[in-house]
Amino acid sequence: MRVTFLPDDVTVDVERGVSLMQAAELAEVQLHAPCGGKGTCGRCKVIISGSVDAERDSHISDAEWAAGYRLACRSGVAGDVTVMVPDPPELSRPRVLVRTPGEVSNMTPIVQRSSIEVPVASMDDPTALLERVLGSAGEGIGASVPLDLIRSLPEVVSQCNGSVDVLLGAKGLVTVLPRGSVYGMAVDLGTTTVVVNLIDLDTGGTVAGAAGYNDQILMGEDVLSRIERAEEGDLERLRQLALGSINRLTVEAIAAIDGSTDQVTTAVVAGNTAMAHMMLGVDPSSIRYHPYSPAFNASPMLSAGEIGLKILPAAPVMLVPGTAAWVGGDITAGVVSSGMHRRSELSLLIDVGTNGEVVLGNRDWLMCCSSSAGPAFDGGEVACGMRAMDGAIDRVGSDLGFHVLGDAPPRGICGSGLIDLIAAMLEQGIVDRKGRLQDHISVTERDGIKEMTLCPGIAVNEDDIANLIRSKAAVFAAIRCLLRAAGLTIGAVERLHLAGGFGHYVDPDNAVAIGLLPDIPRDRFSYLGNSSLAGARDVLLSTPRRLEAREVAASMTYVDLSTSPEFFDEFTSALFLPHTDLSLFPRPQ
Ligand code: FES
Repeated sequence: MRVTFLPDDVTVDVERGVSLMQAAELAEVQLHAPCGGKGTCGRCKVIISGSVDAERDSHISDAEWAAGYRLACRSGVAGDVTVMVPDPPELSRPRVLVRTPGEVSNMTPIVQRSSIEVPVASMDDPTALLERVLGSAGEGIGASVPLDLIRSLPEVVSQCNGSVDVLLGAKGLVTVLPRGSVYGMAVDLGTTTVVVNLIDLDTGGTVAGAAGYNDQILMGEDVLSRIERAEEGDLERLRQLALGSINRLTVEAIAAIDGSTDQVTTAVVAGNTAMAHMMLGVDPSSIRYHPYSPAFNASPMLSAGEIGLKILPAAPVMLVPGTAAWVGGDITAGVVSSGMHRRSELSLLIDVGTNGEVVLGNRDWLMCCSSSAGPAFDGGEVACGMRAMDGAIDRVGSDLGFHVLGDAPPRGICGSGLIDLIAAMLEQGIVDRKGRLQDHISVTERDGIKEMTLCPGIAVNEDDIANLIRSKAAVFAAIRCLLRAAGLTIGAVERLHLAGGFGHYVDPDNAVAIGLLPDIPRDRFSYLGNSSLAGARDVLLSTPRRLEAREVAASMTYVDLSTSPEFFDEFTSALFLPHTDLSLFPRPQ
């Protein structure tokens, strides 16, 4: 029986009845097992899809059980099974930008705190407690108040002798709590990874962060396959997995500051349109089909309780609005974080992932598009490809020397390493402009396909190179189409914003050398880091940024490339290294 472990994507064959913990050992996949497999610590939780024999356990809630969570040490293999390790030990964690750069001035968070003294009731003034609290907070009696708060108010006020903090949102009272720190939460809900930052609502500083995989990986690596699963009836499970990922990381971040989840009094989530739908349990299927009309681009302010986020249940939660089915709130957040919509200079923002999203414009206008780059930059569709985690070759020099992430032997190559490798092979003449491998001491043939061996066990073949060329061609063609739609050329771009982890880690010269990024002077390149997370933080802390996010999402002109003949022409022209038209890449730097 086959057991496949994700996100490492390692498969082993075992006998029926072997525990998932034993299978993990065989596969050399690390699991947390503080109790050594006795079933007492509850730390070896995995999420399964397939057949296992397992009994209910007090460490697993009803919702987790329904979502497929099981204890690896208490689950026996009963058929082929896929196992997602949701909380991998440090060695298997993804390389993710956890902290948000920059800061927000003139803070106006979604919820505002004020410290009040609640007057004591007397026979002369027996005003009800809630009215006294509302009056001290400057709110009228028509303000909205969560029922849970009315229930807990007498105890909280009496415990604090009337000296309490009130948190006010747009509609009224959010919570009343003892004096102390309160936090907001910025979330980057990515297709592959999820990042949570806790922000001090008084200082605006990030006090804790946590990152991990989106457990939905179990249901498919890319957005399309997850939408298909939703159509097959797995929407509720997808919702639970997304929420489970965020909630797990929230608990981790809160634990790092010895806080409580009730101190997290508001949140902003930035994710692509499909992730936003799935997190809310909204059918995402229309995203897949012509005319690609999502159920929503902008949602109203919701509460954490109704969504299922494990922070203060009454905490207002905003999803950063998106523009279209394939340009979501993560891109809006990136624009807000970059500031390109506030400047006169012409900017191009590029977010490279499984989809390549591109935004072009300035303070007067914005256009955007998306093209399917495929999983090659995430290490998919490449035989020795892997995600950027320990053991991944992330850098390759022009002499083919390489660097491996973490203190681990090389296990594969991640996206940044692949781009470096292709650039180095091109420079040395090991690969030609069509992606064909040439005669070289490192080039051999296996099963009729030429491959180039970088080090023992790690090689790229011509199919891998073709996949990478298709991916970079999709992104570059999207850039060209957007410029053409605006009647502009690449030379007109005054600022090139590279968003996301990919933009942070990739070597820009090598990305230009293979034709992924446009060849403009490097001093025009700007690296945003995790701009989805930074944008979520900005929206959380600033009323102007919240208004800008809504304005940007609503006003961006979406250019649909799916049926565009220009896109097909541009894509075909870009299937060379770096391009058919070498005049577009004049400067080898
Ligand atoms: Fe402790 Fe499984 S290892 S419960």
